[in-house]
Amino acid sequence: MTKINAAIKGIHAWAPEYILNNKELESMVETSDEWILTRTGISERHILKGEGKGTSDIGTEAVKGLLEKTNTSPEEVDLLICATVTPDMQFPATANIISDKVGIKNAWSFDLNAACSGFIYALDTARRFVESGQYKKVVVVGADKMSSIVDYTDRATCVIFGDAGGAVLLEPTEEDLGIMDSIMRSDGVGRVHLHQKAGGSVKPASHETVDAREHYIYQEGQAVFKFAVTNMADVSAEIMEKNNLQPEDISYLVPHQANLRIIEATARRMQLDKDKVMINIQKYGNTTNGTIPMCLHEWQDKLKKGDNIILAAFGGGFTWGSIYIKWAI
Ligand code: UT7
Repeated sequence: MTKINAAIKGIHAWAPEYILNNKELESMVETSDEWILTRTGISERHILKGEGKGTSDIGTEAVKGLLEKTNTSPEEVDLLICATVTPDMQFPATANIISDKVGIKNAWSFDLNAACSGFIYALDTARRFVESGQYKKVVVVGADKMSSIVDYTDRATCVIFGDAGGAVLLEPTEEDLGIMDSIMRSDGVGRVHLHQKAGGSVKPASHETVDAREHYIYQEGQAVFKFAVTNMADVSAEIMEKNNLQPEDISYLVPHQANLRIIEATARRMQLDKDKVMINIQKYGNTTNGTIPMCLHEWQDKLKKGDNIILAAFGGGFTWGSIYIKWAI
């Protein structure tokens, strides 16, 4: 029997209009454009404004554009997975809400939470459904309205995050293309360094938790940085070795955009020149599940059929991983 591969057949992404630049942040907390740029590489980030707007609105824009671009009618979609840490609400799943908003009716849908590695976790999950032969059109969404959990009085985190999202369409192919391999990891020991303290079952929302500002991102930046820089580089080098890929065989590294210094360290470890690394952190900051599809969307015109691409991410949990793709469009 011929092996069925899962191939990305379309990509679309969306970021809200409002731009929060470093200058504006200087007026909100004690920081400077220079500090933010040198420590993170970020100049500006997009913020979703408007009453009643949530992550599903970002995801809906991305999926609508994706279906249009790929000439796919919503009824044809078999499954939609949404990776997010900022769901519209605790339940139902944001995937259910996006599906409803775009008119996906003959499908099931669910959310997946793996913090900043969520998009690659979701992509690797989705590909198993396609490879089974049972699923013909699977949509993977990565979207976050990070501004909903950012404390804009905490200079250590508020300069980092932004809102955005993207979506890809996975379809089966019998060609030697698509998602070729993946390495996925998690280690819950890392949970102490990056989390949201309240609002879950351990510490439900109360006046006290709100007063203590516990519904926001809590991050011990330096500790996370150390793990991120080592693990993202290791897992990217490991997938190259496992698949016998030399630096010259790789067209692009698509890294999660958490910090320019982490991205550069990963590229160095893979011995890749800067022009082979997708970097747009300066414009969007860390959009959590949005970073990788946003990059793929912005670079899609440069990608050619057969190009070898490595996706890599690291996030809260800790979670991390890499995916090797032979581009199929
Ligand atoms: O995507 C999910 C995974 N997350 C990550 O991968 C993030 C990993 N961590 C990082 O990217 C970096 O640790 C940060 C960008 C968060 C912070 O950079 P850093 O170089 O590790 O800075 P730091 O936390 O060690 O802080 C250095 C100094 C401190 O001052 P003192 O104690 O040396 O006087 C901070 O208080 O910088 C201060 N600081 C700031 N100063 C100006 C922290 N935030 C700011 C700020 N503006 N926004």
